[in-house]
Amino acid sequence: MSSVAQPTVSDFYAPVLNSLEQVKHRLVDVVPPDSQLLAMTLHQSLHSGGKYLRPAVTLLSGLATGQVTDKLEEVAAVSEMIHIATLLHDDVLDDADLRRGKQTVRAQWGNTVSVLSGDYLLAQASLKLANVGIIRLVSVFAHVLADLCDGEVEQIRSSFDLETTWESYYRKTICKTASLFAAGCESAGVLNSLPEPQIQALREYGKNFGIAFQIVDDLLDYTSSEAEMGKPVLGDLRQGLLNAPVLLALDASTLSETDRQALRQHMEVIFQAEEAPAKAAADALKAMLVDLGAIEQTVQLAESYVGRALEALSFAPASEAKTALEALASSVLRRRA
Ligand code: FPP
Ligand code: MG
Repeated sequence: MSSVAQPTVSDFYAPVLNSLEQVKHRLVDVVPPDSQLLAMTLHQSLHSGGKYLRPAVTLLSGLATGQVTDKLEEVAAVSEMIHIATLLHDDVLDDADLRRGKQTVRAQWGNTVSVLSGDYLLAQASLKLANVGIIRLVSVFAHVLADLCDGEVEQIRSSFDLETTWESYYRKTICKTASLFAAGCESAGVLNSLPEPQIQALREYGKNFGIAFQIVDDLLDYTSSEAEMGKPVLGDLRQGLLNAPVLLALDASTLSETDRQALRQHMEVIFQAEEAPAKAAADALKAMLVDLGAIEQTVQLAESYVGRALEALSFAPASEAKTALEALASSVLRRRA
């Protein structure tokens, strides 16, 4: 069998590669902390092998609808800084020892240092936005921070709840994941002085891209391996989170009452279980997700959001950057990590 290498997201960054390099410089061009430990945790977090997906989408949105200015590069850096800050906080909430295959700041230096490193990055991101000097963008990113907290709390509220609704799932997904993508795209439209409906269309692209991205993330939690993901799998269920595949399985028209009871039982075993004792339940649950068509339906659900993202972009004239944005959205469906 011949194996053809699948493109990764960064293969679509070509039209903005130079700007993305500038963004990487801008990320570290922050007010240096006095504390050497903080300097080290920031360095570690900012060089932890991220894909720079949020800045890339932000820059491509700018290029597809006008130009990439210094201000947009600065905003793209802000989107990555906020992303990294959320991870530093999230690893504390999740007691995570591993991210992107490396030890977390939390595991190395403790929860307090991890939270404060995230806070420092948020402060630096605020300074960058102040330098950009456009009040609307301050407001856009302040809403993102509010959404992130809102989504995280909704997730905590709904965890271990076998009656979790789609409404709660989407609220959490939009706030935790899609909001930051949407903000980067909206900012590109604002900086290019687009008419408001086009700014909103760019925002829709980012939002639907983010939802599709999260749905695929949910799927990978069942179909991927720890080696591929760089973090333990089945993490969502072990934290009590009912994500898209499980919600689709519970909705399956072929689900008998016996199946429903079996699914619930497997989930309860996996909730917060150690890896080994939960393996039988995990295998049984995964088999049920396949049999009930939930894995396939999760892919279809992600496809439908990619479709919405592409539709939202239809206003933009043909260009290399627009093609890259389209390809990037479609590539979410081929994500393996
Ligand atoms: C990763 O989720 C976490 C987020 C996308 C957002 C986390 C938000 C907070 C901790 C709220 C406050 C933070 C700030 C900076 C305002 P995940 O646990 O589903 O993904 P993972 O598997 O990669 O950890
Ligand atoms: Mg987490």
